[in-house]
Amino acid sequence: MSAAATAARADADGQLTVRVWRGAEHGGFQTFQVARRANQTILDVVTEIQREQDATLAYRYACRVGMCGSCAMVVNGRPRWTCRTRVARAEEGGQITLEPMRNMPVVKDLAVDMESFFEKWRDAKGFFEPGETPANDFAVVRPDSPERAQADAGVECINCGVCYSACDVVSWNPEYLGPAALNRAWTLVNDVRDRGQDARLDAVSGDAGCHSCHSHMSCTEFCPKALAPTYAIAGLKRVTARRVWKRGS
Ligand code: SF4
Ligand code: SF4
Ligand code: FES
Repeated sequence: MSAAATAARADADGQLTVRVWRGAEHGGFQTFQVARRANQTILDVVTEIQREQDATLAYRYACRVGMCGSCAMVVNGRPRWTCRTRVARAEEGGQITLEPMRNMPVVKDLAVDMESFFEKWRDAKGFFEPGETPANDFAVVRPDSPERAQADAGVECINCGVCYSACDVVSWNPEYLGPAALNRAWTLVNDVRDRGQDARLDAVSGDAGCHSCHSHMSCTEFCPKALAPTYAIAGLKRVTARRVWKRGS
């Protein structure tokens, strides 16, 4: 698109100054000017830079509607899903600073490698275990049962990694399973159909598990789906502690 056409599309609010992390080896931050537009999201801004100013800019997204969890970045110091974050909500005096998520290796620019994040889901046994002889019929789970309510509270996670990026314990201890994997484990602990609870509770109660959480709530504060991994982890702490007492008595 020509510069004139770009300017014509801009609304009357003028320009945004956008600082984008390009890696220490490339001088750190690079600054771009982007036209402000009505209802513009942070992801719109990054996409406009990549399409119209610098095609080498690397970032990640897929759905653009808050479902896939792939577009998270640090925006003005705060981890966010960028496809559902409006510029008007995140900019500070017309300035936006974009960095890759923390606690994961950077592949390039704003794209991080999420492999360790997903490996921890596996390590926390964050998958349904039907047992060796699953029932043929559908299980009946009452919608108003306490277990169902606990599972419902955490089940809408989109694996975006925002909570993981916000967690200082992950920064201090890279082995820590982290809020998303533990939140997932808690939904499965409350799944009455699951037959893998012993292995799961063993997995989440080790040195890098739920008891390492300092309950400082960053994960819960920043989760774009308004989930509360801190409370899920508190549930795991209760259940694993009770299990130890039972074994000792
Ligand atoms: S509450 Fe626990 S998991 Fe959440 S950010 Fe704090 S230390 Fe990390
Ligand atoms: S718990 Fe929330 S912040 Fe963490 S991965 Fe899931 S949706 Fe993202
Ligand atoms: S692009 Fe899918 S959640 Fe943002």
